[in-house]
Amino acid sequence: PDYDVLVVGSANADLTVRVDRRPGPGETVTGGDLVESAGGKGANQAAAAARLGARTALLARVGDDAYGQLLLDAQRRAGTDVRHVLVERGARTGTATIVVGPDGDNAIVVSPGANARLSPADVTAARALVAASAVVSLQLEVPARTVRAAATVAAEEGARVVFNPSPAPERIDEQVLAVADPLVVNEHEARQLSQGEGNTAEEWAAALRHCGARSVVVTLGAEGALVLGADGRRPVRVPGVPAEVVDTTGAGDAFTGALAVRLAGGASLEEAARYAVRVGAAAVTRPGAQPSYPTARELDRQPATG
Ligand code: RIB
Ligand code: NA
Repeated sequence: PDYDVLVVGSANADLTVRVDRRPGPGETVTGGDLVESAGGKGANQAAAAARLGARTALLARVGDDAYGQLLLDAQRRAGTDVRHVLVERGARTGTATIVVGPDGDNAIVVSPGANARLSPADVTAARALVAASAVVSLQLEVPARTVRAAATVAAEEGARVVFNPSPAPERIDEQVLAVADPLVVNEHEARQLSQGEGNTAEEWAAALRHCGARSVVVTLGAEGALVLGADGRRPVRVPGVPAEVVDTTGAGDAFTGALAVRLAGGASLEEAARYAVRVGAAAVTRPGAQPSYPTARELDRQPATG
């Protein structure tokens, strides 16, 4: 394949303010300076993969505004092929309004803008790109029918699908689930999607594979990740890597992008998860999503414990 990773998904400008304390309903609090930076779950995954040195392409839609330009510039700097980032005249680029608390945890409101216009036709028009990619990585900030089209075309063209159902939907699309290898979920998504079945990552992973996913990775924040492979063997826990948490925004996307990179290179799911845990840990140590992602060289300088 010409590309290691193709990401089909969203691109958002992240508008972030840090606060000492989250406002309650009807309350006003004063935060720090507004920071505008490159985000969006799809664009984040692509930037993570490209910065790690993978041959990466992004299929996404932005508007012809300053935020669209910011996102394109960030992808180019990361090294992503942006020929399939479609710039829509008169549309607004997606935004994410983000409040980061003192603990580095965040709350996010997304306004989809041009992301809502990424269509199944955009995917079929890019069939050759899908066919030229080892791994196709999907999330849920673009229309569900577009995600389904991407999953279908990827399966037809023999690309491996990595699927992160985030933001967590009410119900998961069975057609997409059936080709997910792996399905990547955090604890919140795992609990929601396994519909009351199970209380541990092991049980959620088993339930999600029972629902049709070929393999499952549950990300566990500082605790690392749990991997349930397609071979039906027992789940494996990948330990976390110690990190000083500054901002967790987009750390899950960095994890997934890194996972896709290693899977494209032929690593086992467990090996890929070990690498992805290190990349996710690096991402939480710096502010923002894409601006916090490590290059392969920066990652090498990190202690590889765990
Ligand atoms: O997953 C983190 C991302 O979610 C942010 O970059 C923001 O854009 C939202 O899409
Ligand atoms: Na970060």
